[in-house]
Amino acid sequence: MVITPSYRSMLYIMMFMIGILVFIPHLCGVLLTDPYTKYSQLNLPPGVKGDSVSLDPLNQGPYVGVSDGRILKYNGTDFVDFAYLSPNRSKQLCDGTTDISLSTTCGRPLGFSFDPLTGYLYIVGAYGGFYRVSPQGGLATKFATDVNGVPFHFLNGIDFDPIKRVVYFTDTSLVFSFTDVLLGNPLNPEDSTGRLIEYNTITGKLRVLIDQLPLPTGPAASGDGTFILYGSTTGKIFKYTLPLIGSLAGKPQALLNLTGYPLKIKRAAELGCFWVPVNELVQLRPRLVHPFGYKFNSTGGVILIKNFTAEYFQSQVNVVQEYGSFLGLGGKTLYVGSIMDSYVGVYGTQ
Ligand SMILES: *[C@@H]1O[C@H](CO)[C@@H](O)[C@H](O)[C@H]1NC(C)=O
Ligand SMILES: *[C@@H]1O[C@H](CO)[C@@H](O)[C@H](O)[C@H]1NC(C)=O
Ligand SMILES: *[C@@H]1O[C@H](CO)[C@@H](O)[C@H](O)[C@H]1NC(C)=O
Ligand SMILES: *[C@@H]1O[C@H](CO)[C@@H](O)[C@H](O)[C@H]1NC(C)=O
Ligand SMILES: *[C@@H]1O[C@H](CO)[C@@H](O)[C@H](O)[C@H]1NC(C)=O
Repeated sequence: MVITPSYRSMLYIMMFMIGILVFIPHLCGVLLTDPYTKYSQLNLPPGVKGDSVSLDPLNQGPYVGVSDGRILKYNGTDFVDFAYLSPNRSKQLCDGTTDISLSTTCGRPLGFSFDPLTGYLYIVGAYGGFYRVSPQGGLATKFATDVNGVPFHFLNGIDFDPIKRVVYFTDTSLVFSFTDVLLGNPLNPEDSTGRLIEYNTITGKLRVLIDQLPLPTGPAASGDGTFILYGSTTGKIFKYTLPLIGSLAGKPQALLNLTGYPLKIKRAAELGCFWVPVNELVQLRPRLVHPFGYKFNSTGGVILIKNFTAEYFQSQVNVVQEYGSFLGLGGKTLYVGSIMDSYVGVYGTQ
């Protein structure tokens, strides 16, 4: 069957409505045991490391942003090319490269988030661009490289707010770059040059919501348009309540204290629940971390702590994406991405 663009957008709207009906009744309650016991992994092409992982609004994928500059899509058997960020990117030079000096030429999609209504994918590149690509993929369109005249420096996480139809993203630092992370250079936890930025898809306007943040990560929209969450080096997750209309809301409140640096925060399968990876540093040299995923709710109650150490030993976890199956019949699945590993971890409940 040929999926034409209008048929496709109808499908997206249908899936979105079904999504709302299916996930609203599910509340997240504390889990006494870890249900994610079935582990498997999807291997990325040789040499490339992952990071962001997401299904599209039609539940296809996962899509993965990788170190050689591509966004790949898993088609059920293989990872195939979906999108890329730079018009200059040469497949011959970049595909499979592990050369850090090529990273600005080849690009590095470090975060992405689908608009559930249109299927467009919003992307942030580690080295400073904010992009969008259609459901057909290919070369992404660059929207912006700065806000208020200050160039983006280390774009890290992004989330599409399905209710407000805006996009939130974090510029982690104006001093440290993603290259520092790759080279293992210590980031100064006192750095507070990070920004939380909003892009309005209706007006096309960009604005800084909060600046002078200490290495902000995340961000995640609540899913009902009422608040945003972001993390910081202080080990805290902050909750920023959004106004119904008009200007900016109040001061961000600390929601959760963690025992390490929280990375990308994502909405869980149930509305009002979230996942955040936290990598606890056990030993500096040789580097040894115990990676965990925390599932928590909108008032900071921890629902589940998932220990990823067995599968991500001497590595780290950057993102945990949870999906429920239709009507919950097939259980749930966690997709795990890491900038240090050449695979996507898949944890199923059944
Ligand atoms: C996935 O992509 C590979 C490589 O292009 C192709 O051989 C395979 O048939 C595709 N599988 C499906 C299910 O489309
Ligand atoms: C593409 O590459 C050329 C030559 O290396 C460079 O001058 C140009 O700025 C690049 N364009 C982009 C959009 O990166
Ligand atoms: C986090 O810890 C600080 C002390 O370091 C404490 O004052 C604060 O209440 C805690 N916040 C939460 C949300 O648990
Ligand atoms: C969040 O979880 C805590 C701990 O289980 C619980 O006490 C609280 O009521 C939950 N909050 C919401 C909004 O569900
Ligand atoms: C996590 O798992 C690792 C290895 O599987 C184990 O050594 C460690 O004690 C676990 N940590 C916690 C807090 O359960």
